[in-house]
Amino acid sequence: MKYTISQTTLKNATSAARVIVYSSKKTLKKDIAFDSDLTTFIDTIIDSKQLDDTKENMHVFSKVINLSLVTYYFLSAHPKQPRKGIRYVFGELSRHLKKHAYPQVDIFFCMPYKPTMLCQSVEGLGLGCYSYTTYKSDSFNGAATPKSASTIHFAVKATKENKEALKRGEILASSQNIARDLANCPSNDLTPADFISYAYHQFEDTSVDITCFEKSDLEDMNMGALLAVAKGSNNAPYLLQLHLNKSSKKKPIVLVGKGVTFDSGGISIKPSKSMGQMKADMSGAAAVLASMKGLHDLGESRPVIALIPLVENMPSSTAYKPGDVLTAKNKKTIEVINTDAEGRLILADSLCYAVEQKPGLIIDIATLTGACLVALGNVANGICSNRSAVATAFKSHEHITGEPAWELPIYPEFLDYLKSDVADLINCAENRLAGTATAAVFLQQFVDDIPWLHIDMASTMHYGKSSGHIVKGMSGAGTRSLIEFVQQVDLKKLID
Ligand code: BES
Ligand code: ZN
Ligand code: ZN
Repeated sequence: MKYTISQTTLKNATSAARVIVYSSKKTLKKDIAFDSDLTTFIDTIIDSKQLDDTKENMHVFSKVINLSLVTYYFLSAHPKQPRKGIRYVFGELSRHLKKHAYPQVDIFFCMPYKPTMLCQSVEGLGLGCYSYTTYKSDSFNGAATPKSASTIHFAVKATKENKEALKRGEILASSQNIARDLANCPSNDLTPADFISYAYHQFEDTSVDITCFEKSDLEDMNMGALLAVAKGSNNAPYLLQLHLNKSSKKKPIVLVGKGVTFDSGGISIKPSKSMGQMKADMSGAAAVLASMKGLHDLGESRPVIALIPLVENMPSSTAYKPGDVLTAKNKKTIEVINTDAEGRLILADSLCYAVEQKPGLIIDIATLTGACLVALGNVANGICSNRSAVATAFKSHEHITGEPAWELPIYPEFLDYLKSDVADLINCAENRLAGTATAAVFLQQFVDDIPWLHIDMASTMHYGKSSGHIVKGMSGAGTRSLIEFVQQVDLKKLID
């Protein structure tokens, strides 16, 4: 799919598919200013009950013009209404366009538009038509193979801002699609080592500096918690580090992503229902890798370090066990209560390493707790921070990214839930109270006093059905939020 831009009018359009984006049926007639016999056709549509934008965001009408069939897609968008935002309605449109193979589709905005809206249109188009087809054989997929328009033409002024907005939208969508590909990939084909190969491939011939710490390095680095989680699997653990703009003298932002390529629960094994979804327990890692790719492609100049601990959590005779006591990199000891609370263990050592990089801000993102799904459903990610300004700043971007975040409090009292009789901490509370926030309090023990944001994305890891730009399957969520936040956050304002 190629995007082009130039101010053209509906009257002069020659394409077989034309999209009319509008926010109000009332002003639509006035907004479509042209003088052909189309006027009556479009007037009739606008007046008809068929264009009921309270029920559907999109209405499709066709007409033969100059002996060829032209299809009009009326797209009703209200940037401030949920499920009517630009990204959302363009996501819906992209799934309709997939059924055709138009050489060109023209997009006309019959409403005031800004560059951010052009960006979100392209995001919607790139995200909505995503499908994970790696394992569908051609003969099986056959006629269902999706088509796509070869050129999407935006009939708006080709200003520098507008052109940049389209490019940004393309990068944001393709970054999230990288995260989706990784999270959807089954764990037999995405072991920790496979993830590393994928990362090297993505950043081949770029200035991004890549270091891969292997098991012996992790032993030298005293990462006892991370190594313990990996013990049950034949697939070796790794810690992947990517450094964007390494030569910058500024304090870096460190992004840490949970990379459990499969979480069986270990000895505290999970029930088999939906266990297959745990192939995506590396969605935090995927979001971090994908956002680094996006930041790189957008030409971001800020120094950013990505840390991605990669392990597989399996039960076996060599697996770590409840009752074991582990020593993390910062010498804190942890009694294992439940081997299924493994994410916080691999993050603990990674956060200690993050602190050593003397960053201005640490952000971790993880599919950490089922409790987050219980608390927030499929709608928002849970966030926690040791600085209220950080959480507030992150949340303030949700209207741009369309990825809601909800802050959960990390009361000091929660640390009492994590007291051990034999070690400094237990890896999870014996009760099920405040599961998401107690996991965050556990992580807090490993970030010293560096400004830190924790994102629990267990809630948005997977969607059971497609709607708007959201596609059934693993979501790739968090990618665009990380890119937006890293680019916009003012580190000086985070001290409160
Ligand atoms: N990976 C899971 C959390 C999860 C659940 C992610 C559902 C996505 C969807 C995590 O490792 C886990 O198993 N957490 C336990 C913690 C508990 C043992 C304290 C949980 O949430 O049950
Ligand atoms: Zn687990
Ligand atoms: Zn997990």
